[in-house]
Amino acid sequence: RVASCVLDPAAVVAPVNRRTFGSFVEHLGRCVYTGLYEPGHPLADEDGFRTDVLALTREMGVTMVRYPGGNFVSGYRWEDGIGPRERRPRRRDLAWHSIETNEVGIDEFARWAGKADVEIMYAVNLGTRGVQEALDVHEYANHPEGTTLSELRRANGAAKPYGITLWCLGNELDGPWQTGHKTPQEYGLLAASTARALRSAEPGLELVACGSSSSSMPTFGTWEATVLEHAYDVVDYVSCHAYYEEHGGDLGSFLASAVDMDHFVDSIVATADSVGARLRSKKKINISFDEWNVWYLSRFQAEEPANEWAVAPRVIEDEYNVADAVVVGNLLISLLRHSDRVTAACQAQLVNVIAPIRTEPGGPAWRQTIFHPFAKTAALARGSVLHTRLAAPTYATARHGEVSLVDAVATHDAESGDLVVFAVNRDQSDPVELTVDLHLFAGDLAVAEAWTLADDDIRATNTQDDPDRVVPHPTPLVSLDGGTLRVVLPPVSWSAIRLA
Ligand code: AHR
Repeated sequence: RVASCVLDPAAVVAPVNRRTFGSFVEHLGRCVYTGLYEPGHPLADEDGFRTDVLALTREMGVTMVRYPGGNFVSGYRWEDGIGPRERRPRRRDLAWHSIETNEVGIDEFARWAGKADVEIMYAVNLGTRGVQEALDVHEYANHPEGTTLSELRRANGAAKPYGITLWCLGNELDGPWQTGHKTPQEYGLLAASTARALRSAEPGLELVACGSSSSSMPTFGTWEATVLEHAYDVVDYVSCHAYYEEHGGDLGSFLASAVDMDHFVDSIVATADSVGARLRSKKKINISFDEWNVWYLSRFQAEEPANEWAVAPRVIEDEYNVADAVVVGNLLISLLRHSDRVTAACQAQLVNVIAPIRTEPGGPAWRQTIFHPFAKTAALARGSVLHTRLAAPTYATARHGEVSLVDAVATHDAESGDLVVFAVNRDQSDPVELTVDLHLFAGDLAVAEAWTLADDDIRATNTQDDPDRVVPHPTPLVSLDGGTLRVVLPPVSWSAIRLA
């Protein structure tokens, strides 16, 4: 089996956005508590942050982190999480039926983000709250000094404002499960008035309106159209959220999950552009794909609720295998391919909860399989994304129709000359030889590094006892001859090949 493409350095989609490599920290399960924050852990620093998790976050190449939710944010009072810890309230979290101790709030998270060297994407509560509370948390976070809330931040130890640029106007308010769920009209009006107020406080903010919680929502498309009719002029982004899993043993469909992500992005870009056209606006609304990942959601939904009203319970600690990592690598290919319109994205989530990083309380932290394609893509994707059109065999899937066996995208850094090809083979039994015609590239290129994540056992996972069972290995069969790159992609595999 063979697949091929021709790459052209002039056929640029868009620059690689560093915000493509965002992640997400929600007050959910053990993401925050015993995830990134665990005072008393042997590796905790003076602020109680686990330095092993900080090191893995940096190694993963995470550039931005969305915080503090998620469903959690729709019932959250941000001011519960500031000031002396002993005075912070314990509250019910209705989203996850746990108890929030508020030991970590915006000040602690900002300190953690500084140490992790990530940008903060902050979500305000538009479920149970509104314009005033959004203005208040903005004043606390971003106003330099001389007002009650900015002085309160200074008194709480942060002399300088946090300078948070990217703000989410609520979370998944299209979902009936969301505290404060709204109709698109209600949400569109609230998002627009909150955006206007925030912009009046700080014109340069970048604001994200909630889009659909998944492409299978009954209001998919109409939600975005209605919300944007109200808020087009005052927001910059509309969000997309998508989680993928293998349904009923249908691995073929699961491996092609990126086809759904492509469709999702293309549909929402078309919807946003059609609203823009109706409004005769020259402005374009971009996509913030601020929740995406593999998540065995149907397993979670089938479970009897456990650990009700516990503090930092073990919930949604999915263990990922090789096939999951290949899908994650492919979802990153899809996001990169859409870099002209997807200019922010967050893998959900960072630690323990549907996460690339796992920890044990008092114990080690380790990389799940899905850590690796993220880390390699974040490290290698530089410069511009190139149009990458493949000629490849196809296969039939129940969920996505006829799909390509191979998916790929290339990035090119005109300054360093680095050209990187990211590719997946979705075939479950056979390798595919991918040839890439590079005759349009000037100068001599050579294979500088090539990595493949594949395994005879596609269900293999990384565990506390065997944390490096699944890692990328040097690609065995790769060559560059006379301007043609040839690489053999093993079955169910993800690869990255850097030419320099
Ligand atoms: O990431 C887990 C949950 O998934 C988030 O809280 C919510 O926004 C989404 O439904």
